[in-house]
Formats: sequence, C-alpha cells, structure tokens
Amino acid sequence: MKRSFAALWLAAAWAGGCGGDPPAAEPGGFAEKNWPAEAEALLAGSDWYRHAVFYEVYVRSFQDSDGDGVGDLKGLESRLDYLKELGVDALWLMPILETPFFDSGYDVADYLAVNPDYGTEEDLESLLDAAHARGMRVIMDLVLNHTSAAHSWFVESRADRTNAKADWYVWSDTPSHPDNGCGTQSGVFGDSAWEYDAGRGQYYFHRFYPEQPDLNYRSPAVVEATLGVARHWLDRGVDGFRCDVIGLLHESATECEMLPATVDYIRELRAVVDEYPGSVLVAEPSKLTDATAYFGDGADMFHMAFHFGYGYFWGFPFGAGSAAPITDTFAASLERFPVGAQDALVIGSHDVARAYAVAQGDDTRHRRAAWIQLTARGTPYVYYGEELALRPGTDEVVDLRDTARTPMLWDGTPGHGFTTGTPWLAFGAEADTFHLAAEREDPTSMWAFYRDLLRLRRGRAVWGTGEMELLETGTTTVFAFHRADAFMAYVVAVNLTPDEVTARLARADLGERAERVIGSGTLALDASGADLVLPGAGAAVFRVR
Ligand code: GLC
Ligand code: MG
Repeated sequence: MKRSFAALWLAAAWAGGCGGDPPAAEPGGFAEKNWPAEAEALLAGSDWYRHAVFYEVYVRSFQDSDGDGVGDLKGLESRLDYLKELGVDALWLMPILETPFFDSGYDVADYLAVNPDYGTEEDLESLLDAAHARGMRVIMDLVLNHTSAAHSWFVESRADRTNAKADWYVWSDTPSHPDNGCGTQSGVFGDSAWEYDAGRGQYYFHRFYPEQPDLNYRSPAVVEATLGVARHWLDRGVDGFRCDVIGLLHESATECEMLPATVDYIRELRAVVDEYPGSVLVAEPSKLTDATAYFGDGADMFHMAFHFGYGYFWGFPFGAGSAAPITDTFAASLERFPVGAQDALVIGSHDVARAYAVAQGDDTRHRRAAWIQLTARGTPYVYYGEELALRPGTDEVVDLRDTARTPMLWDGTPGHGFTTGTPWLAFGAEADTFHLAAEREDPTSMWAFYRDLLRLRRGRAVWGTGEMELLETGTTTVFAFHRADAFMAYVVAVNLTPDEVTARLARADLGERAERVIGSGTLALDASGADLVLPGAGAAVFRVR
C-alpha cells in the first residue's frame, strides 16, 4: 500500500537559538482579570472558536487502549485531561470512519460507521460526552470530495451505466472530459486523474489516489446525501467539521477550485451547520496562498480556513532570515478577508513534514514559528506532538506522510505509553529522549514553551479577536505586530536571524509602557514608537497596555 507522495510535501518542507528567558508572570501594574473565569465565558459564547486552541489528532497514533498497537477513541478519551492541562479547548479528529486505508482514512468506505480499529459508535459518544464535560469541543474530518472505491455508492455506480447511482461519480468514455475534471492530471498523487473501469467500460475521475473516486456534485442526489452525512454527525453531538479539500467539489475542464457551484454547496452546508448552534466549519483551502474565497460575506461560508501561506511555508523565511514573506502573507489576509473571517493558524499538519524537520532540527526556529502561530490574529491548531517537537519517523505504511504521523510519546517505557503492544507505525527518532514525561520535568523543553504560551492566551480575548497591526521595523530581519482590544495590548516581535537585532518600531501610541511577559529582548517605548532589541534567534511578547 506504500505510495510515493510528493507535491505538498516538497513545497512545504526544508527551508530554514532561543531557549529564551524563563517566562515571567503577567507583569503587575496592568489591569488584570480573573483569567480562568474569562476563559470559561469566552469558550461558552457563540464565538468560542475564535478564542479556542484546537489540537489536530491522528487517533491511530495518539493513544492505544487495548494493546493492539493502534490508537483508538478510548485511548484518546483517557488523554483529555492532558490536553486540557496543555491548554487545548477543541479537538479536530482526522478521519475516524470505516476505510480500506489507502489514504489513512481520507478514503471513506462508510460515512456513517466508525472505523472498528478505533472503536465503536458508543466509544465516540463517550469521547464526545467526556470532552463536553470538560468544556472541550470536538470536530471531525468531513471528506466529501471523494469516497473510497470500496464505498457502496461507488460499488453500485461502477456496476453498469444505468443503475440508480450511475451518475454519482464522474464518468467518461475517454481519460478526459470536455467540461469536467480540471485537466487530465491528478496533480496531487500521481499521473492520470482518470482510471479505466472494466465493468462500465469507462473511466472515472479521481483527483487523489485511484482508490478515491470523486463524487459528482452535479447530481442533486449526491448533494442531498452528503449534506445528510453532516447532519448525521451533528445530530450525534460533534461540534463541526474540518472540510477536506472542500474547494474541489465541482470542476470544469480548466478550473479546479471554488467554482460558483462549489460556493453554492458550501453555503448549503453552512446553513445545515447553522441549525446546530455553536457548530463550526473550517476549510482546507487547496490554493495554499489565499483563503479569502472560503469566507464568502464572512458569515455564510466557513468560520475558519487554514492559513497555509504561513503554515506550510514558514521554513523558507526562517531559512532565509527574512520576515518579508511572513509580513506579506499576514498583510494579505488582514487586507482581503471580510469581517468575520477567522484565520486557522498552523505550523504543520498530517500532510507536511514535522515542524522539527521544517525547522531543520533547530529548536529555536520551531519556537519562533509557533510564537507567531500562537499570537497572531486567529485560532491556532496545534498538530499532535508538535508540543514535544516530535521527531520524524522513517517507517511508511501508507506513504511518505507517515513520517509525520508517528505515535505520540508519553513516556520512556518501551511502548512509550502509547501502547503495550507493537505500534502500528514505528516511533520517530530520539523517542527515548523527547517524550512527555521527560519534557514535563524540563523547564526549558518545547513542552514547557507551549504550555507557557498557551497559558498566556487563556481567557485573553485579544489573541483571538483583537486587532492585529503589522509594525514597520525598518529591517527585514524582524517580524513584529501589535495586538489590541479595548482592554489590553501587546507587541510581539520575532527575530528571523541567529544574530542580535535592533529595530525601530515607528508607530506612535504603541502603548503606555512595555513589560516583557515571555521571551527575551527589550522594548523601550517613547512618544513616536519604540526601540526593540532581540537576541539572536530571539522572540518576545511585551504587554504595552
Ligand atoms: C487532504 C488531506 C490529505 C488527503 C487529501 C485527500 O489534503 O489533508 O491528507 O490525502 O485531502 O483526501
Ligand atoms: Mg487500539
């Protein structure tokens, strides 16, 4: 089943220290609130997702509960307190539905059945209850562009040209289509996007692996059936969906993404979700550099969309020591997004190299990248294990992406607390050194860094919804911005280089005075701006009001 996978991976990976001072408590002098109570209030409101910290979980690799070497829902439930302690408010579960596993579950064989490897529907219910009891939410991956070839819909569709589901997939007499299929290449996983099916004597279209035939959204029955899938899981208590390659539902011969008919479908999906108050949708945009199209008027499409322009490309600016690409991508979203749009901020995912690898093993790069992710305007999504700087593995069961999907490391025992059996995928490198138990004991660890930054976010609405203004620094080596709401304001500054930098932040009224709350460096405010000094590979958050 092992496949080669190239496109995204290569685009996102490899480009190119700051232990920092131990974090100070929030400085005295500034007005403070009861932050835990604030957090509870923010997370209870309809805007909860703007204030939440999400955590992406590969259930298969998170926690095994029964010794079969495969992570499962019960295992995940047993780790909710850990996640809560870390500062996580919501989980995104990668696909947990029945699948022949040609694409790690992104090939769904039954939209209504939990993958037995991961447990039962009761286990899911129990997980949802346990999460909700802790004030946490759970969203599921919703993979609607394609099904597995093993899905009963496709089995029926391919049987002949006249069955009831004959038009549920995209069929053609030739390996091309006059007004569909967006060219003839899959563009993502290999060569031709058309696969010959002997049963029908026709070709079917697949944007991804041949085992993942694309559904035909021109059929009203497909629209109805897939909206029904969303309803089904919302009825069971999930809090929304991460929508897999959702821009690709409709295609013409030349256009792949966000055709008007796709936009219409998304509006329908949003209307369904809006029937379940508090439920949310986050889009996986296919165009990696601009998610604007996914927000509609700011209230009728996605609540959030991943900001891949930063999340999948930060390795390059850190490698080059230049903040310019980071400034550009944030400036673009701040300018283009409609009111109401919310960035979903990542520095990695199950599709790209581990942050550790993107940072080329430089711990300070990983930290500085996370610094921006966790303090820029938006909702952060931490990929499981990122908080430990999980090292990549070398084992591949499905494809190259498995190197970023190795089992979580909870302790230094042979099964690393993940399993009492043999893990389905070998642990990553340095598993005996960088695991939770060790990092918890070490105040300079990556884990301690994440815990402290996430603590700083807690209850402070400014991080999720406050204004974000990019600051002129007079140098390309520093990325700096100002975050403010009615109650408080911060300056965040990140040095892209290994050398000490000084910069002039030329903006009046930055704040009242500067108190560093985390990181290293100094900020001296005056009437027309501030003088900033950051040590090599350093970063800092200063409260200024
Ligand atoms: C998305 C998923 C990826 C999957 C693909 C096809 O990009 O994140 O893992 O392979 O869609 O479903
Ligand atoms: Mg198991």
